[in-house]
Amino acid sequence: MHYSDFGLSNTKRLLMSAMRGSYAVPAFNFYNMETLKAILKAAQITNSPIILAVSESALEYMDKDILMGMIRGAKYKKNQIALHLDHGHSFEICKLAIDIGFSSVMFDGSALPLSENIKISRQVSDYAHKFNVSVETELGILSGTEDKNTKSKIHSYTDPTIVKDFVKQTKTDSLAVAIGTAHGAYKRKNKNESLRFDILEEIAKTIPSVPLVLHGASTIPEKYIKQINKFGGDIKNAYGIAPAQLRKAISFHIAKINIDSDSRLAFTAAIRETLSKNTDIFDPRKYLSYASEQITKNCIDEIQNIMGSGYKF
Ligand code: G3H
Ligand code: 13P
Ligand code: ZN
Repeated sequence: MHYSDFGLSNTKRLLMSAMRGSYAVPAFNFYNMETLKAILKAAQITNSPIILAVSESALEYMDKDILMGMIRGAKYKKNQIALHLDHGHSFEICKLAIDIGFSSVMFDGSALPLSENIKISRQVSDYAHKFNVSVETELGILSGTEDKNTKSKIHSYTDPTIVKDFVKQTKTDSLAVAIGTAHGAYKRKNKNESLRFDILEEIAKTIPSVPLVLHGASTIPEKYIKQINKFGGDIKNAYGIAPAQLRKAISFHIAKINIDSDSRLAFTAAIRETLSKNTDIFDPRKYLSYASEQITKNCIDEIQNIMGSGYKF
């Protein structure tokens, strides 16, 4: 199946518009019907383009046929939504995503030797571009829990002196950069730590026409941490990226901002509170629909206060 049969857009089109309009398109991860519907509802309410991000492990968890069945049945505004493979670690998984109808894939070769990263990124671009599918690649390493298979303790910032050649050789459509963000809930030592805007500015100057991508960008709202801990959870020292830092990053060509942990926190906080306050309920639809609503609320908040992507069409 080709993504156009599902009314999806590729990310190149969405990100080029974002660069021109000085906003960012949010990439929200999802893993089931509740999270998918919650994100699409936020897109509909704000009239924002949205990238539906599916990690390798989420693809496995949902099952590819069930996932594509949901996408086929979902209601969304045509050409405003992309379906994106997040952190694909091989050519084969990127090819599979393209073949089943994804409109965009990320090949994440950031942990590989540079020559290997270039070689496979180019192979993915050559295949993807035959179908007008967009490609995201990565240079530099983010620390934290990236997916169920990758937990990186090391962090290496993107080297601005190699980005131009990397983009030329790989034919990538967008580039994920490492400027101090990290995956998961434990990304900062404190709330005030700044991102490396000096590096970002240098990259933006060197490759001015390439949309840049920021992973590990969750803001880790304190209200969810408090709510989780109040109702039996135990999450300590979790700090995210301040919204003002994300808005500043957008002014340096960050055109796609990846958020996963914030949705997980909103969902979990709502379920913990509902179950603990209503000890007699056992219909999952009751607590899952409330939890979905909290994801929608958070996505709307981030679209309006960080991305600036609402009402662009
Ligand atoms: O950056 C990656 C995402 O947060 C996905 O993580 O493999 O646990 O779905 P996951
Ligand atoms: P967070 O863990 O900050 O939400 O990052 C998500 C991400 O980068 C998905 O690719
Ligand atoms: Zn990521």
